[in-house]
Amino acid sequence: MSLTVNAARLKEDLQTLGGIGRSPGGGITRTSFSAADADARSWYAARCRDAGLSLRVDALGNMLADDGSDPSVPAVWSGSHIDTVPDGGAFDGAVGVVAALEAVRRLAEEGLALQRPLRAAVFADEEGNYSPLFGSSALARGYGRDRLASMVGRDGDRLIDAMSTAGWDVDSALDVAVHRDPVFAFVELHIEQGPKLEAMGTEIGVVTSIIGLGEAVVEFHGRADHAGTMPMTERHDPLRAAADLIAALASIAASTSDAAVVTCGRLETRPGGANVVPSLVRLTLDFRDPDAANVAALAVRLEQHANEAARTHGVGVTWLPDPVIPPMQLDERVRSTISRTAAELGRSMTAIPSGAGHDSQNIAQLAPAGMIFIPSRGGRSHCPEEDTDWPDVINGANVLLNTLAELATRPSAELITDQSD
Ligand code: HGY
Ligand code: MN
Ligand code: MN
Repeated sequence: MSLTVNAARLKEDLQTLGGIGRSPGGGITRTSFSAADADARSWYAARCRDAGLSLRVDALGNMLADDGSDPSVPAVWSGSHIDTVPDGGAFDGAVGVVAALEAVRRLAEEGLALQRPLRAAVFADEEGNYSPLFGSSALARGYGRDRLASMVGRDGDRLIDAMSTAGWDVDSALDVAVHRDPVFAFVELHIEQGPKLEAMGTEIGVVTSIIGLGEAVVEFHGRADHAGTMPMTERHDPLRAAADLIAALASIAASTSDAAVVTCGRLETRPGGANVVPSLVRLTLDFRDPDAANVAALAVRLEQHANEAARTHGVGVTWLPDPVIPPMQLDERVRSTISRTAAELGRSMTAIPSGAGHDSQNIAQLAPAGMIFIPSRGGRSHCPEEDTDWPDVINGANVLLNTLAELATRPSAELITDQSD
C-alpha cells in the first residue's frame, strides 16, 4: 500500500518558506541566526502547531518536530536545513525540511501502527556561515566552548554575538555536549544540485556516498602603502600572494585527484581603498574529495602553496582550518529500502554520489542514513536560478514518505543499529 503526500499542502509550505528572506532579485538569503532565519523558524513552529506536533529546539538551533513521544526511544529521523547560502535558491534544504514535516503529518493522519516514532529535523547553519554543517556536526561530534566562541561568519560577526542578538542563550549553547537522542535511521530528501539526473532523464537518485570537505581561512598580512608612490619592487602586497594561491587552485586539485575540487568563494581586502596597497587579505578556501586521504592532502598542499606565495611576496600568512568533515558511505540497508520503495512507486532511479556536503553525512555517524535526490533544472544550485520541476518534488516526497513509513513500521530486527530496541 503506498501513501501519498498532500501535494497542495507541500507546495504551499515550500512556496511560503521560499518567500522568507527573498530579495527583489529573486535570490534568498536566510543565514542561520539572522532575522530571516528567525522568521523561517517562527513559520516552521506555526506549521508544527497547526499539525498538533511538538517542537523541540536545542541550544544550537537544531529543531525536532514529532508527536511528543519519549525522546529516549530510538526514532526514525528525516529532515534537512532552512538556512541558505547568500542569494541562494528555494529548494536547497527546504525540500527536505517540508517533505519531512509532511511525512510526519501524513503518518499521523494515516494512523499507522508505528514500531517507532518519526521525527522531522531541521539542522542549524548547514551552509556553514559559521562552520560547515554546523548544527548536525554538533550532534555527531560536539564542539568545545572555545571552538564555538571562535566561530566567525562571512560578515565578520561572531557566532555567539549573532546568537545572542537573535535572543539565543549563548551560555547553554556553549555548554552543549554531544546531545543525541537515539536515532534508529535517518533519510534526507534533497535536490541533486548537479546535472546528472536531468541529463539521464531519471527521477530519483539513491545516494551512495557523500564527499569529504574541508574549509580554511587564509590571511595574508602585508603593508599598506600609497598606490602611486611605492615602487612595485618595494611593496609587501598581500593581494599578489593571494592571487598566486588562487591561480594555483585548479592545478592543486588536478594533481590530487580527478574528483578533487577547490573553491575560493570569499575574499576581502583591508583597508579596501582603491589607491591603497592592501595591508591584509582574507580569503576562504573550500576543498573536497570523495577520499578522506585526498582531502587531507589538499589541505597540506594548499597550506604549502600559501606559505610559498607569502615568501615570494614578502608578506605574512596565517592558515586557519576548520576540522574536516569526513566523506561518508551511506547505509546499504537504508539505500535498498529507498530503492525498493521507488521501484514500487514506479519511479526511475539511479545510484549517485553526492559532490555536495549534507547533514546526512553527520547523522550517519549516529545511525544508518540514506539520501534521496531529485533533479535540479540545468544542474544549477546555490543561486537564484535553482529550480526543480514540481512533479519531481512530489515524486521525491512520495518516495521519502513511503521509505519513512517502511522504516517506522518495520520490526527492528531488520535494521539493527547500536541502539537496538
Ligand atoms: O556546501 C555544500 O555542499 C552544502 O550545500 N552545504
Ligand atoms: Mn543543502
Ligand atoms: Mn547548499
